[in-house]
Amino acid sequence: MQLQIKLVEITIADLPQIQVIDQACLGGFWSLEGYLQEIERPNSYLISVMSREKVILGFGCLWAILEEAHITMLAVRPEYQRQGLGKYVVWGLLEKAWSQGLEWATLEVRASNLAAIALYEKFGFTVIGKRPKYYEITQEDALVMWRKGLHYPEFKDSLQAWHQEIREVITLRGWEIV
Ligand SMILES: CC(C)(COP(=O)(O)OP(=O)(O)OC[C@H]1O[C@@H](n2cnc3c(N)ncnc32)[C@H](O)[C@@H]1OP(=O)(O)O)[C@@H](O)C(=O)NCCC(=O)NCCS
Repeated sequence: MQLQIKLVEITIADLPQIQVIDQACLGGFWSLEGYLQEIERPNSYLISVMSREKVILGFGCLWAILEEAHITMLAVRPEYQRQGLGKYVVWGLLEKAWSQGLEWATLEVRASNLAAIALYEKFGFTVIGKRPKYYEITQEDALVMWRKGLHYPEFKDSLQAWHQEIREVITLRGWEIV
């Protein structure tokens, strides 16, 4: 299918789709109430990759806390995974953090989530710590990942280079970033 996609901020109208993706990918990480709070919270940025037909393919969330960008959510529709869209969402979050003048990005990820860890490493995140039994239900450890230097001049160049790579991968699929 020929897809035209773009990064957009999530609105209330998008929440039914967001909840479907959250349920499929994370088993319902946030409730509808939780998402509504995120939309209203001034320092929270919820973005999605959306097709021209307004189908949301993936999304992520970032909290801006002083100089820190805390990535709190990332998910791609299962049937669209492994096609570069996760990278595009993380790129969008980092671009937002950079445009807000934030200095570093951080996140927690399940120690077993090798796919997400590999994805974040592609953007220069490194593991800086562990929170034992961070996830209540499974008692699994969280790894804390960190990416410094968002305010360094070279970060803008990295953003441009990553965007080019993402565009190439998406173009190879016959899709288009608009
Ligand atoms: C993590 C997630 C968002 C990745 O999305 P995606 O669209 O599949 O990611 P991309 O196609 O952009 O892949 C980017 C990189 O991530 C890594 N990756 C993604 N899926 C992977 C997998 N199943 N196994 C190993 N590495 C994987 C690879 O390094 C990949 O780069 P490559 O394609 O050049 O090898 C997606 O798997 C997902 O929604 N998972 C469930 C929710 C989740 O775990 N969220 C993260 C919470 S911290």
